[in-house]
Amino acid sequence: MNIPVATVGAATAGVLDGLERLQGPVTVVRRCAELTELVALSQTGIVRAAVVAGDTAELTAALAERLGAAGVALVALADDFLLRQRLEAMGITNAPGTVQAETLAGLISTAVQALEHSGAGRGLAAGIALADPAASFGTGIEAPDGGAPAAEEPDVRAGTVTAVWGPTGAPGRTTLAVNLAAEAAAAGRSVLLVDADTYGSSVAVSLGLLDESAGLAQACRLADQGMLDAAALARICADVSLRGHRLPVLTGVTRADRWIELRPAALAGVLAAARRMVDEIIIDCGFSLESDEELSFDTMAPRRNAATLLVLEAADTLYAVGAADSVGVPRLVRALSDLAAAVPAARPQIVLNKVRASAVGRNPENQLQGAWERFGPGQEIIAFLPADYDAADAALLSGTALLETAPASALRAAVAELAGVQASRRRPRRRGRSAK
Ligand SMILES: Nc1ncnc2c1ncn2[C@@H]1O[C@H](COP(=O)(O)OP(=O)(O)OP(=O)(O)O)[C@@H](O)[C@H]1O
Ligand SMILES: [Mg+2]
Repeated sequence: MNIPVATVGAATAGVLDGLERLQGPVTVVRRCAELTELVALSQTGIVRAAVVAGDTAELTAALAERLGAAGVALVALADDFLLRQRLEAMGITNAPGTVQAETLAGLISTAVQALEHSGAGRGLAAGIALADPAASFGTGIEAPDGGAPAAEEPDVRAGTVTAVWGPTGAPGRTTLAVNLAAEAAAAGRSVLLVDADTYGSSVAVSLGLLDESAGLAQACRLADQGMLDAAALARICADVSLRGHRLPVLTGVTRADRWIELRPAALAGVLAAARRMVDEIIIDCGFSLESDEELSFDTMAPRRNAATLLVLEAADTLYAVGAADSVGVPRLVRALSDLAAAVPAARPQIVLNKVRASAVGRNPENQLQGAWERFGPGQEIIAFLPADYDAADAALLSGTALLETAPASALRAAVAELAGVQASRRRPRRRGRSAK
C-alpha cells in the first residue's frame, strides 16, 4: 500500500525532502503553502495523510477531526516540548522535526491504519480516536525533567459514563440525570453532572445555577486546544452543595444556536478528562439522533447531533427514558429503533417516567409491562418512576434536587433506587418546605 501524502511547511524541509526520496510506503503528492490549502485538498480524496511541519501551533482537535472525517490522517512535526504536549493531548500523532524520514513514514502508516480502524470518513468515530488521549498514537514525549507529560497524566480514576437519553416530548431526561447525580453525590460518591443537550439545556436552571458561562463549551474550547486536563476541568465546573457533599456540574450551552461549540473531537477530550477526574459521569443528552450527513454532501459540516451520538457511543450505561402514556411509549419504541440504527452497540435500559393510573389505567406498572411485552422492542424495563407533579414542581421551583425538597416522595425513592442509593427519607433541617 502506498500512501499519498500532502505536506505543509518548509521549516523542517530536510525531513520532507527525505520523505519525498523514500521508495514507499508513502509518496508526497503535494506540498501545501498553508493549512487552509491542506484542508481544501483533504476534501478531494487525493491524499490519505498530511504532515504538518509549519503552522503546527495552529492545529486544533477540531481541525484534526475535519481531516479525519475526510479520511486524512494527520502527523505533526514540532520541536517545542509544550507544543508537543498539546498535540499529544489532542491525540495528534507527532514527532520532533529531527525525525528520520523512515521513522516518519512508519508514523504516517500507523496513523493511517489507526484512522481506518476508527472509521475514517465517518467523522464521529474518527473524532473519538483523534481526541481521546488514551487512543492517541503519538510517538510518546519524554519531558525534559523526566516527569510525565500532561497527556499521559496517570489514570487515577477511570470514571464510567451514564447517558440519560430519550425521545422528544420532555419525558424527563433532565429530571432523571439531575436526580441520579444528586443522589450519588449526596451519598458521598465522586460524580460529575454534564448537560450535553444541544437543543434545550436545562441542568443549570434545574439546580438553581445562575450560570451563563456554559461550562461544557468552555471545557470543549480547552480540549480543542489540547489544554484540558482533570485539574483544568475541575476549575471550570460549577459546584452544587448537596447535604454537605459537592456535585460538580458542567452546564450546557445557553442558547440552542451554540451547539456548534460542542464538536465531537473536543467533547471526546472532555469525557477523557472527566473520566480521570471522577468515578461517575452522568450526562443529560439531547433527544435527536438524526444524522445531517444524509441531508448534506459536505462531510466537513459540523453536525448538531454529533454530541449526542458521541455520548451514546461512549456510554457505559444508557438509560432510555420514555413518558408512560399513549404518546410517550410509542415514541420511545420508535426512538429505540433509531438508536439501534445510529449506535448499533448501544444497550439501552428502559426507564418509564411519569407513571400514573390516569394515563394508562389501574395498576399502571402492570399495564405498561404488559403493553411493553407485546409491542416493545425487547429491552427490559428496569424502572418505573411515578408521576409526582408536586414533588417535581417543588424541586424545579427551588432549583434543587428531589432529595432536598421531597425526600420522602415515591419519585425520589425510585430515582434513589436506580442510583443504587439507600434513600434517607429525612428532610434536611435547614429547609422548611414540607415533604410529599
Ligand atoms: N416523574 C415525574 N412526575 C411529574 N413531573 C415530572 C416527572 N418527571 C419530570 N417531570 C416534569 O416534566 C417536565 C419535563 O421534565 P424534564 O425537563 O426532565 O424533561 P426532558 O426530557 O429533559 O425535556 P426536554 O426535552 O425539555 O429536555 C418538567 O416540568 C419536570 O418537572
Ligand atoms: Mg432536558
